[in-house]
Amino acid sequence: MNLKGATALVTGGSNGIGLAIAKRLTAAGAKVAITGRDERRLAAAARALGAHPIRADVAKEADVLRTYTDMVRQFDHLDLLVNNAGFGVIKPLVEMELADFERVFATNVAGAMLMAREAARHFVQRKSGHIVNIGSTAAVRGAAKGTAYYGSKFALRGMTECWRAELRPFNVRVILVNPSEVLTDFYAAAGLPQNTENPTKLRGDDIAHAVQSALEMDDRGFITELTVFATNPKD
Ligand SMILES: NC(=O)c1ccc[n+]([C@@H]2O[C@H](COP(=O)([O-])OP(=O)(O)OC[C@H]3O[C@@H](n4cnc5c(N)ncnc54)[C@H](OP(=O)(O)O)[C@@H]3O)[C@@H](O)[C@H]2O)c1
Repeated sequence: MNLKGATALVTGGSNGIGLAIAKRLTAAGAKVAITGRDERRLAAAARALGAHPIRADVAKEADVLRTYTDMVRQFDHLDLLVNNAGFGVIKPLVEMELADFERVFATNVAGAMLMAREAARHFVQRKSGHIVNIGSTAAVRGAAKGTAYYGSKFALRGMTECWRAELRPFNVRVILVNPSEVLTDFYAAAGLPQNTENPTKLRGDDIAHAVQSALEMDDRGFITELTVFATNPKD
């Protein structure tokens, strides 16, 4: 796709990987809207990017519907959805609380589905569109303490394959991007230690670069799934 002049919606575009993707899309000439729940952080990111802020929680259906009304009012139509909003709860199965499990699935799975559903309704009518789901290496193999987060990313990967099968006949490309560890606030939010100064670990812009490269391929084809590792990460 040609990003110049394209319209894009990045969930969780106020921080980390989503912010880096929104930055690259904006630099490539796209008209970008970003979402997030924290209004101040969202407003600051939107100002810095020159993007349109939409305060919305992807886990709330009413917020998702309002996001699309706002998007279409602002930019007339949507060309690209980046389903990036997400977080992790990392706990052993024997300590897993139902509320934590449901919270993770509400954002990472149901939220991604609601955002994609509304995008797909729009894309099917237009017979064109692009969806990038930000998965994780947690979407392709399990690990101890991964019940909620890894489970949610496996579900996202499964949904990606279903959406791809349904939407290809409408010229819609559905792409899954699986980052391994990236230096963002994700680890701290999950209560995990991370040395944020480590030069061998991936940055948000590394993932944004991968997303941009995949999107810019001619619409005749698309990369179905893309996994990004740090070459030689040292703790
Ligand atoms: N960092 C990693 O190592 C890594 C590796 C693989 C995959 N990922 C995936 O990459 C994506 C982005 O994570 P990140 O590392 O950039 O984390 P981050 O720095 O914590 O950013 C998360 C973003 O998502 C937003 N968000 C969270 N829940 C939301 C909700 N319910 N509705 C709307 N926005 C929401 C946050 O804003 P608010 O809190 O203001 O809503 C924030 O903008 C996630 O899907 C994550 O699973 C991360």
